[in-house]
Amino acid sequence: MSNQFDVIVIGGGPGGYIAAIRAAQLGFKVACIDEWKNAKGGAAPGGTCTNVGCIPSKALLQSSEHFEQASHHFADHGITVEGLQMDVAKMVARKDGVVKQNNDGILYLFKKNKVTFFHGRGSFVKAADGVYEVAVAGEKAESLTGKHIIVATGSSARQLAGAEFDEKQILSNEGALNIDAVPKKLGVIGSGVIGLEMGSVWRRLGSDVTILEAMPAFLGAADEQVAKEAQKQFAKQGLKIQLSVKISDIKKAKKGVTVAYTDAAGAEQKLECDKLIVSIGRVPNTTGLNTEAVGLKLDERGAIVVDGECKTNLPNVWAVGDVVRGPMLAHKAEEEGVAVAERIAGQHGHVNFDTIPWVIYTSPEIAWVGKTEQALKAEGRPYKAGSFPFIANGRARALGDTTGFVKFIADAATDEILGVHIIGPFASELISEAVVAMEFKASAEDIARICHAHPSLSEATKEAALAVDKRTLNF
Ligand code: FAD
Ligand code: NAI
Repeated sequence: MSNQFDVIVIGGGPGGYIAAIRAAQLGFKVACIDEWKNAKGGAAPGGTCTNVGCIPSKALLQSSEHFEQASHHFADHGITVEGLQMDVAKMVARKDGVVKQNNDGILYLFKKNKVTFFHGRGSFVKAADGVYEVAVAGEKAESLTGKHIIVATGSSARQLAGAEFDEKQILSNEGALNIDAVPKKLGVIGSGVIGLEMGSVWRRLGSDVTILEAMPAFLGAADEQVAKEAQKQFAKQGLKIQLSVKISDIKKAKKGVTVAYTDAAGAEQKLECDKLIVSIGRVPNTTGLNTEAVGLKLDERGAIVVDGECKTNLPNVWAVGDVVRGPMLAHKAEEEGVAVAERIAGQHGHVNFDTIPWVIYTSPEIAWVGKTEQALKAEGRPYKAGSFPFIANGRARALGDTTGFVKFIADAATDEILGVHIIGPFASELISEAVVAMEFKASAEDIARICHAHPSLSEATKEAALAVDKRTLNF
């Protein structure tokens, strides 16, 4: 088999494997290189998302939510559960099974689309006459050549100085997804997406969870009204979130970890915990790529420098996903991967950064797309806002999950939807309607005039659109 390819993709996460499949669909001869290993050392494509990110975290969130429901909410439905127990090892094994299904699914998709998969680390060797040479260091060393290279090497958890991950006591996302018994006391540094999702999993299973956050504002990227409601709900559930803290020292003992910090009032505090999750953001993966061999330009954070079309400083070298600027989200990486494959084929691949949805899979779920009220105020752009609470939605009442609301923000003059913010049941699913509406430049009135099934949570979306014009029907 010749190792000459039209397109070589380095990295098999959502950015890379999707780019490889789309390029193959467009008729190119494609290779995809990925180094992730499963517990047995075998290939496990899918990247952070599949192995230690989106998929396993959602599996644990689901299991722990079932436990929470059985512990506290089944009784409302007349269901009595006696002797309820949590088998953490089984929960983790189920999660591993879900991950494997996804790894195997990607290997199947590579076969189906005739993408040649190489298991190992890819690195640049040289560029000559418009052709790039890429080495693969795996079980077998390989040398590949290709005209187009797509770098999709993703990101890794950022370490806190003096608190290196050992994945036993000080955990990154990897260790946080593999805890084998419910820690009595769990500390989390960073109340971002991972801190809240992982903190929720272990809180539901019985851990006493404290989250220490450096910023004074909780969930600063979310709409303030949503962030306020989320903070209230998480506090009610027992998640202890402290803002404006400054970590001064982290010490590991034989058992457990002690975190010394200054609280919002400037007082010295100590948090003793059995395990500590550090979730303070992620850094791009570029070490080991040998970017110097070809002169690929990185920025000061180590991210690959790209333009709006994911073009790097080198001809026919592209980069997508977490290794470049923009939100570190799987669906953003996928969209960029598809767009790049299409651009290589001379098509007009397109990613609309203004309509990328955000979802936090806590309970209540939080989801948004577009602008927040505070961002519009800062811009000085006139807007109208309206919201509708799930307490007034029949389906939410029947579900027994009436927390939160849907909020629409529309341009004051044209009524164009500028942002939609949801906190409540199935926010992750409900947000899609808002994304579609914004892609089609819909007005709030457009949504208000569309027939929504009854009884459904989506009626809250329609009602929130009506609320922009102050004419809700059920509230
Ligand atoms: P990655 O998924 O990181 O994949 C990169 C791949 O390249 C990896 O397999 C890596 O091993 C491989 N690689 C790196 N260097 C080389 C090399 N030199 N040679 C060969 N292979 C290499 N996003 C969401 O949208 N929704 C979520 O619910 C969500 N949940 C998350 C939960 C957690 C705990 C974490 C940590 C992240 C979560 N994310 C979520 C973020 C999401 O996982 C990332 O945005 C996404 O995986 C980025 O995709 P990518 O393809 O750019 O990189
Ligand atoms: P994050 O950026 O979401 O949150 C990090 C938090 O840590 C911030 O609130 C920050 O202020 C705080 N922080 C930073 N340094 C600190 C310090 N020294 N002390 C205390 N707090 C500090 O990052 P996180 O949670 O690590 O997740 C990484 C990325 O992974 C996310 O940004 C997101 O892109 C992705 N992700 C997406 C998910 C989803 O879509 N549902 C789920 C999980 C992760």
